[in-house]
Amino acid sequence: MSDKRIIITGASSGIGEAVARQAVARGWQVLAVARREERLAALAADIGCETFVADLTDEAAVAAFAEAAAAFGPTGLVQVAGGAKGAAELAETTIDDWRWMFEANVIGTKRVIDAVLPLLRASTADGSYAEIMVVTSIAATVAYKNGSGYNAAKSAEKQLVDVLRLELHGEPIRVMEVAPGMVWTEEFSLVRFEGDQAKADAVYKDVQDPLSADDVARVMTDILALPGHVSVDETIIKPVAQTHPWMVHKGPLVAKG
Ligand SMILES: NC(=O)c1ccc[n+]([C@@H]2O[C@H](COP(=O)([O-])OP(=O)(O)OC[C@H]3O[C@@H](n4cnc5c(N)ncnc54)[C@H](OP(=O)(O)O)[C@@H]3O)[C@@H](O)[C@H]2O)c1
Repeated sequence: MSDKRIIITGASSGIGEAVARQAVARGWQVLAVARREERLAALAADIGCETFVADLTDEAAVAAFAEAAAAFGPTGLVQVAGGAKGAAELAETTIDDWRWMFEANVIGTKRVIDAVLPLLRASTADGSYAEIMVVTSIAATVAYKNGSGYNAAKSAEKQLVDVLRLELHGEPIRVMEVAPGMVWTEEFSLVRFEGDQAKADAVYKDVQDPLSADDVARVMTDILALPGHVSVDETIIKPVAQTHPWMVHKGPLVAKG
């Protein structure tokens, strides 16, 4: 039995849920965090993790989360909570959507790190390493048409991670970023398109083998399983069909010749 104790945010669906499932399967203790209580309860009943319900954009909720996190005693944080809202040309995007994306992906990540970092530092008192892994996106580094608010928010989140790594220089804490490309999760595009299932489905239509949440979680938990001194600072994961962030092949992949 490993002594890893990991807080996973965004664990009620998609990538975060898959990481929680794989982490528990690897024998790690998990505190799963998200807003939807019923989904966390179902996950806990299924895999046997601890849960905490919190809106990570809400100051009071994060204060309560900080107490639960202290009681849990983490050795690691996997920050997955976040997402996109809207996909339109910059001039057509709304301030509300921008605010949502900056709250969920940037300020939320800062709040969670504020709450958890002192606990991670304390966990290293026995000479072990602690770890922080944040899921950003390939949108953090490559702009795409109709992506302005998400590009900007994920880029800010990436910078936050890079700064944190510099500031933890000399401490036994690895700070790692995972930047996925196209992942076909149940809810990511549905949230982006305000529940419009047809628009959400069109994103992945005719793409051969977009990444699944399990694919990404496999990479993430493989990295987390590496010895604590091994810091895989940045990881980009894309499906083969997505040659470049905005070059996605539609139709079957066929070898030339
Ligand atoms: N799918 C992709 O193609 C893709 C690609 C690159 C990066 N990403 C990033 O990967 C992460 C997970 O995406 P996903 O595809 O797994 O989407 P998802 O299924 O929509 O997952 C988002 C998770 O974040 C939680 N969350 C959102 N806002 C929250 C808040 N204010 N407080 C607490 N929890 C919150 C949601 O839970 P509740 O609703 O229960 O709170 C949910 O568990 C996101 O950061 C996303 O930007 C996704």
